[in-house]
Amino acid sequence: MLEISGLRAGYGAVEVLRGIDMVVGAGEIVAVLGANGVGKTTLNKVLSGVIPAREGEIVFDGKRIDRAQPDAIVDAGLIHVPEGRKIFPTMSVRENLELGSYRRGKPRRARNLERVFATFPRLLERSGQAAGTLSGGEQQMLAIGRGMMAEPRLLILDEPSLGLSPLLVEEMFNLILQLNAEGLPILLVEQNVVQSLDIASRAYILENGLFALSGTAAEVREDPELRRAYLGM
Ligand SMILES: Nc1ncnc2c1ncn2[C@@H]1O[C@H](COP(=O)(O)OP(=O)(O)OP(=O)(O)O)[C@@H](O)[C@H]1O
Ligand SMILES: [Mg+2]
Repeated sequence: MLEISGLRAGYGAVEVLRGIDMVVGAGEIVAVLGANGVGKTTLNKVLSGVIPAREGEIVFDGKRIDRAQPDAIVDAGLIHVPEGRKIFPTMSVRENLELGSYRRGKPRRARNLERVFATFPRLLERSGQAAGTLSGGEQQMLAIGRGMMAEPRLLILDEPSLGLSPLLVEEMFNLILQLNAEGLPILLVEQNVVQSLDIASRAYILENGLFALSGTAAEVREDPELRRAYLGM
């Protein structure tokens, strides 16, 4: 679905991504893991066309997208649920969801809305409520639901567990598994190493602008260096 090679990007004189290669196959959950500030969100922004790739290639579904505009990337079905949710607080839950199909999936908006409400019954209960008054976990569900409204062919989730209680984190990761089981490939960007490795098929560890480690989730989990640096073992 997604193939990245030799990707470099940054801000001004600072190079954040220094030549990364990665692949997300159909049906996979691929985790990109790393500490604060290593460039995980920067990677998502480059994939979404918000900031430019300075070098390298991004191929989505057989087509180069590293020079494409954000709207064209959405049209192609690469849908990004941003860090910090970025919902519209004064609009209702339903209106936020409807905005998700502004560029893609509009003809099937009603059907997709039903599907989102079936996945997140809590959003149905609160469909008329101002989105800004939802709890943090509910807002995260709304952000993912809004992404689903665009009929993603690949969904990028930027730190979906951020700020959630342990119980909700577990619920969130189960939901991600469920969406994947329905056939949706997912690029999961997280700091939560342990739980991400539990649901991912493969993982990449980002350090100093490069992938320091990659492999199947099982391989990465057993890596002594990772256990020492990220799990304190
Ligand atoms: N608009 C910007 N201008 C300049 N520097 C930026 C900008 N956005 C991000 N950076 C810098 O790029 C680096 C990577 O930031 P990024 O947001 O990609 O990290 P991250 O891995 O997502 O971190 P976190 O886990 O905290 O979300 C950081 O050093 C950050 O300060
Ligand atoms: Mg980030």
